[in-house]
Amino acid sequence: MKIVLSYMEVQPLVAAWEQGKQEVATSPDLGRTVVRVSLSAQGARFPSGVLLRWEEARHILAHPHVCFRVDAHGLTRLQRFSPLTGRVVSLYPTGSAPTLTLSGIPMHRIQGTDPWRDTLTKVRAARPRGRVLDTCMGLGYTAIAAARRADWVLTVELDPVVIWLARENPWSEDLFRAPNIAVVQGAAEVFLPTLPDAFFSTIIHDPPMFSLAGELYSLSFYRELYRVLRPRGRLFHYVGNPEGKMARNVMRSVARRLQEAGFRRVRPAHEAFGLIATK
Ligand SMILES: C[S@@+](CC[C@H](N)C(=O)[O-])C[C@H]1O[C@@H](n2cnc3c(N)ncnc32)[C@H](O)[C@@H]1O
Repeated sequence: MKIVLSYMEVQPLVAAWEQGKQEVATSPDLGRTVVRVSLSAQGARFPSGVLLRWEEARHILAHPHVCFRVDAHGLTRLQRFSPLTGRVVSLYPTGSAPTLTLSGIPMHRIQGTDPWRDTLTKVRAARPRGRVLDTCMGLGYTAIAAARRADWVLTVELDPVVIWLARENPWSEDLFRAPNIAVVQGAAEVFLPTLPDAFFSTIIHDPPMFSLAGELYSLSFYRELYRVLRPRGRLFHYVGNPEGKMARNVMRSVARRLQEAGFRRVRPAHEAFGLIATK
């Protein structure tokens, strides 16, 4: 079993050892499950036999903004530079499901919520059914939650480094295991034109913010979303916190362009910080 830790799982190990304990419970997978770990002068040994040395534990504690894989070879920092986008891609711990950061910008809402609850809010608004297109995979949380409700999910991710990170993330496991999820690596705006008309019943569009991915907010892209959606199909478009003048302007211009692309009944999904639209 893969062991992925952040400072949050390591803190109780160090504290227990300092208190003279020889055993303590912690999570080996960022809070998904709990195991008992035995402590010695060398470090903390997980039930699989993997040893986290105390100097490695201290290294994790000194880097609270990133997660680490631990195995027989030592620590692997779950952070890489993406040559494709020029951004640093990291797995950022939250105490619940981790988020993905691109050059330090979190790709899920984490203030007052957590990435998994954020995802469930989006997916509730999208009401996925039938065949689902998830345009921006990220860590795959929207794809995983949608696949639990719908027949089949096709999810697209631009950056191979993000796909690597999802493979490392225990919370993304179902993305590669569920028989009804297909992952495609590529730019959504290049891939969509290769798809047939009226193929999907639901589209979840969860792009990075406008300043990071303007192409995913363009009229030509929205026309493609419209084309691949079947009549009466539903689109959920995450837009972000509508507070602030800039954000309100983005929300308004997205709604206008969706209408121009042919969508009707374009309306806010307040809780999910996005818009719903129908074909
Ligand atoms: C907000 S995150 C998506 C989060 C995702 N829904 C989840 O549940 O984890 C946006 C993702 O879109 C990816 N992306 C950016 N531009 C893209 C493009 N042109 N085509 C497909 N994916 C893109 C980014 O690399 C990032 O992983």
